[in-house]
Amino acid sequence: MALASTRTSGGKIEIVNQLLLPHTTEFIEIETIEQAHDAIKSMKIRGAPAIASLAALTVALHLSRALQAQPAPEWLSSPELLDAYVTRQLDFLYTARPTAVNLGAATRRLKNRLRTSLEEGKGARTIAQDLIYEGREIDAEDVSRNKAMSKWGGEWLVEQVKKKGKSPENLNVMTVCNTGSLATSGYGTALGLITYLYETGKLGRAFFTQSTPYHQGSRLTALELLTLNIPSTMLCDSMVGSLFQHNKIHAVVVGADRIACNGDTANKVGTYNAAVLASRHNIRFIVVAPISTVDLDIADGSAIPIEQRPAIEARLVRGAVYPSKLNAQGVKEQATVMVTPENLEGVYNPSFDVTPAELISAIVTEKGVAVRMVGKNVFDLSDIV
Ligand code: MRU
Repeated sequence: MALASTRTSGGKIEIVNQLLLPHTTEFIEIETIEQAHDAIKSMKIRGAPAIASLAALTVALHLSRALQAQPAPEWLSSPELLDAYVTRQLDFLYTARPTAVNLGAATRRLKNRLRTSLEEGKGARTIAQDLIYEGREIDAEDVSRNKAMSKWGGEWLVEQVKKKGKSPENLNVMTVCNTGSLATSGYGTALGLITYLYETGKLGRAFFTQSTPYHQGSRLTALELLTLNIPSTMLCDSMVGSLFQHNKIHAVVVGADRIACNGDTANKVGTYNAAVLASRHNIRFIVVAPISTVDLDIADGSAIPIEQRPAIEARLVRGAVYPSKLNAQGVKEQATVMVTPENLEGVYNPSFDVTPAELISAIVTEKGVAVRMVGKNVFDLSDIV
C-alpha cells in the first residue's frame, strides 16, 4: 500500500514525521497553526503539494474547532474580526518555507474565498464554514490531479519514444528528490509518472539520486519505490553523468517547487545538474507539477526566492545505527552523526536550484503537456493556468 504524508480521521490531522523515515513510522498530531508551521519549517513534512495541503487542512481544523468552542473565540464574533484573524494566520503559515509556491497558492486561495464571502455579506460563522470547505478541497483535489498529470506525462513519453521509431517498453527513467505520496496528498507528481509507467507495463527501471543533504531520495523515494514494488536503483548525486554515459535512460522526470512564467523551474538542488547532463546526452527532461506550482507573477527563474537551509543540516547525517539495534520500546535506534570537522564554518546549502526553460523538454500539469514555443527557448504557460 502507498505511503501517505498526512492522515485525517475523526477530526484529527496526523502527519508522518519524515525526519524519522524510512526506519521509524511516527505519526505526529497537528492541532494548531503553530504546530503546522513548525512541521513545515523543520521538514517533518515536505514536498510542495504536501505542505500546501497541511496548511489548508490545519486552517480548516482550527476553524471547525473554533465553531464548536464554548465560549466561541472573540474573533468569530464579527466578519471584520474574523478577516483580521484568519489573514494573520494565513500570512504566518506562508512564511514557513519561501520557495514552494503551492503554499502561497493555498493561502492565497483561502484569502480569496475569505474576500468573496465578505463581499457577499455573510456572517462570521458562515464565512468560517466556507473556509473549512475550501481548505478541505485544496487537499482533496491533489490526488486526482496527480493521477491526471502522471497519465498525461507517461503517455507523452511513450509517444516520443515511438516517434523515434523505438519500442516504448522497458523505459528507464531517472528522478531527483521525492515527489511521491509522501510529498503530496497521494500518488505523486514525477514519481506518479513513474508509477503510471510501471502500472501500464512500460517501465524498465526507476533510477533516483540520493538528493543530499536531506536525502529525500535515499530515505523517502527509496521507501516509496520499495513499497510499490517498482524496480529501482539509487545513485549518489555525483554519479548522474556516469549513469547517462553507461546506461540507456529515456527521460529524467522531476517535480517542481515553483515554475516561472517562461518555464524556468525551481526544484530540489541537484535538478539543474541533472538537466545540464540530460541535455548533453540528449535525454528528455520532463517537469511534472500541478498548475498551482506555476507562478505567473514571476517572469523568469532569477526572481524565484531560493531557501537557504541551516548550515548544520549539510554537516549532519541521520539514520538507523548499523548493524541495527532495537531500543527498549522495540524501535530501531537512530543516530545523527556529523560528517565534517567540528570547526568547519563555510557551508553552501541552498535547498533548491533553478533549471532554465531551455533545458526542459516538457512541463506536465493536470491540464496536459506544454512544450517550448516553436523556435524559442521558453514556454508559454499562460494558456494552461
Ligand atoms: O525540500 P523539499 O523536500 O520540500 O523539496 C521537495 C522538492 O523539491 C520536490 O521535488 C518538489 O517539491 C515537488 S514535490 C511533488
